[in-house]
Amino acid sequence: MADGYTLWFTGLSGSGKTTITNLLVKELLKRGSRLEVLDGDVVRENLSKGLGFSKEDRDTNIRRIAFVANLLSRNGVPVITAAISPYREIRDEARQMMDGRFIEIYVKASVEACEERDVKGLYAKARSGEIKEFTGVSDPYEEPVDPEITVETENQTPEESAQQIIDYLEKHGWLSHN
Ligand SMILES: Nc1ncnc2c1ncn2[C@@H]1O[C@H](COP(=O)(O)OP(=O)(O)OP(=O)(O)O)[C@@H](O)[C@H]1O
Ligand SMILES: [Mg+2]
Repeated sequence: MADGYTLWFTGLSGSGKTTITNLLVKELLKRGSRLEVLDGDVVRENLSKGLGFSKEDRDTNIRRIAFVANLLSRNGVPVITAAISPYREIRDEARQMMDGRFIEIYVKASVEACEERDVKGLYAKARSGEIKEFTGVSDPYEEPVDPEITVETENQTPEESAQQIIDYLEKHGWLSHN
């Protein structure tokens, strides 16, 4: 059985987690990999439906994602998680749970850049106060201290960021070379 791993994306809303995930999914499936994706938006509509954005609810949401990622990855299914996951402590919990197969990817972009992109129009709503507790504006985001990978999405195309992650997986034996 192929080894499972978890690619754990973390980064601000609009930093590029979902965009890069979609590119990775395409490439990994093309190479015959099994794969499951836990995207923040989808999880909040299903597994975490009803949870809000208080610290407690955010932590619960992330712990649920980690729980499922652990179940899958320990059974040989690679997992990509794409949620903001703003708190270092909870990410580190996930790391410990999945010791040795947890790959943290910091999707790095400044608040200013994400706000400029404002893909979902959420930054405008956060600035006007319509949305409270918005990460990077009115709620904390704790940067990773020592992530396995950092993709700088202000200076890279999504394709370059995805390639950087594929290169990492190949280099560390998670994925065979093409
Ligand atoms: N190198 C890059 N990687 C990813 N996205 C990029 C990059 N450069 C520019 N972008 C753009 O940034 C935006 C990222 O939006 P995306 O929905 O992927 O963010 P997200 O991190 O999933 O946000 P959310 O947490 O709200 O779901 C897209 O419009 C994408 O085209
Ligand atoms: Mg997203």
